[in-house]
Amino acid sequence: MEIRLVSRDFRKHDAEVLACFLTEGLSTDKYEASLIKGKDFKGKQDEILLLYDVKDVKAKRLLFVGLGKQNEITLEKLRRACFLAVDKVKSLNLTSLSLKVPEIKKFSLEEISRALADGAILGDYTFDKYITMQEQKKPKLKNITLLYETKLKDSVKSAVNEEKAVCENSNFVRDLVNENSLDKIPAKFAELIKKVARKNRVKCKILDEKDMKRLGMNLILGVNRGSKYPPRLVILEYYGNPKSKDKTAIIGKGITFDAGGLNIKTTGYIETMKQDMAGAATVVGTLITAAKLKLKKNLIGAMALTENMPGEGAQKPGDVVKSYSGITVEVANTDAEGRLILGDTIGYVVKNYKPNVIIDLATLTGAVVVALGDASAGVIGNDNQLMKKISEAGEKTYERVWQLPIYDEHREDVKSEIADVKNMGFSTRIGYAGPIAGAAFIEKFVGDAKWAHLDIAGTAFMERQRYYLKKGATGFGVRLLAEFLKAS
Ligand code: BES
Ligand code: ZN
Ligand code: ZN
Repeated sequence: MEIRLVSRDFRKHDAEVLACFLTEGLSTDKYEASLIKGKDFKGKQDEILLLYDVKDVKAKRLLFVGLGKQNEITLEKLRRACFLAVDKVKSLNLTSLSLKVPEIKKFSLEEISRALADGAILGDYTFDKYITMQEQKKPKLKNITLLYETKLKDSVKSAVNEEKAVCENSNFVRDLVNENSLDKIPAKFAELIKKVARKNRVKCKILDEKDMKRLGMNLILGVNRGSKYPPRLVILEYYGNPKSKDKTAIIGKGITFDAGGLNIKTTGYIETMKQDMAGAATVVGTLITAAKLKLKKNLIGAMALTENMPGEGAQKPGDVVKSYSGITVEVANTDAEGRLILGDTIGYVVKNYKPNVIIDLATLTGAVVVALGDASAGVIGNDNQLMKKISEAGEKTYERVWQLPIYDEHREDVKSEIADVKNMGFSTRIGYAGPIAGAAFIEKFVGDAKWAHLDIAGTAFMERQRYYLKKGATGFGVRLLAEFLKAS
């Protein structure tokens, strides 16, 4: 999709559809208010009204979209309103849309423009790769024109360009996560990562099964044992600030399908488990975004890729496994596999790259979905300032995170009687302080780095549509981390 920016009186602008955003009460613009007079449109949130051949307006169609009450406007409401305009245009089988950029006192023009770009690019996304019946496919938008009443500022242009790059990477992550698991088995997924990394001048290193055996990455190898397809460990390196010693590691869970292993999942839980590599996909999306935006940060991205299957030779509940870092692990439940592969990935990155900050992303627990649903991810870590910065980026981007605690009592819960640590918390009742038990396990591998763990099991994949987040993958984390990295 192309985004054009134009400074022009909206009445003189020729377009298939010109969308105007209006607030409830319609106090902003007398001219617009006069067009609405006598029509069933109040400017309420989610309201839309389409008019044809409006006098003194050059555009063919005028589309009014409500923003709700003026003093309750948020950037998220703007993203959603923009999505509604996009959706309307697509339902008319049209492929271009012009937007009159609203001026809202409490937000800068840069912020407003970014929100519109979010709503348009994320809202245009559909996953229709496997659909062959043309009538089922909606056309993609070819272009969006942002219309400004004031003179165009360079800062607005670059804000839109940046946001476009970020959102395109979110959509790239959505494609990866929505893909059939068979189309992203570790070897294939790793090759694809290498290709996009090369294209964006991000360094990419791939370890295969032989390397892992040599290095003793038995946590990853253990999870992989029940699968037909060998695992991979992919490391990305981006040095945007070579003068600095600071290094942030972003680590993702890359289970390309989670059947649960021998603790096999049942109906109702297994169907969406192709999403279990969303953490890894987000790491790729974030590093590519950083390279595109030329962020002045040194970043290490790392992700272990494997299926978690109950096939021949699968690891068994009760097995004890020695990790790459030497810590021994009791595999109390083979379905708590995410923390196992993260343990070895983090262990490897800590030893070989010595990052001072570690952020990991994982669709780790069903319990975080019980606690927070799809409205926010959970964050747990050892550094409150780091988590606060991530939360702030979350509020800005609406990819929100909510902090959960980790206490010594939780650390007690992952102690094992036959190994150094076990991959479950207290009680065989699955879910007992679930997200925290997961974090208490991962914490053993982070050394003295500042660390934040994001449990994205509820936010990576929607089971229903919410505005620009269609059913399926959301790309959660790319916009959040791009914002975090820019601000920190
Ligand atoms: N991949 C799942 C978690 C998950 C659930 C992701 C729902 C996305 C949506 C994870 O590997 C898992 O199975 N976790 C177990 C852990 C338990 C056995 C300690 C869970 O949450 O039930
Ligand atoms: Zn699992
Ligand atoms: Zn899993």
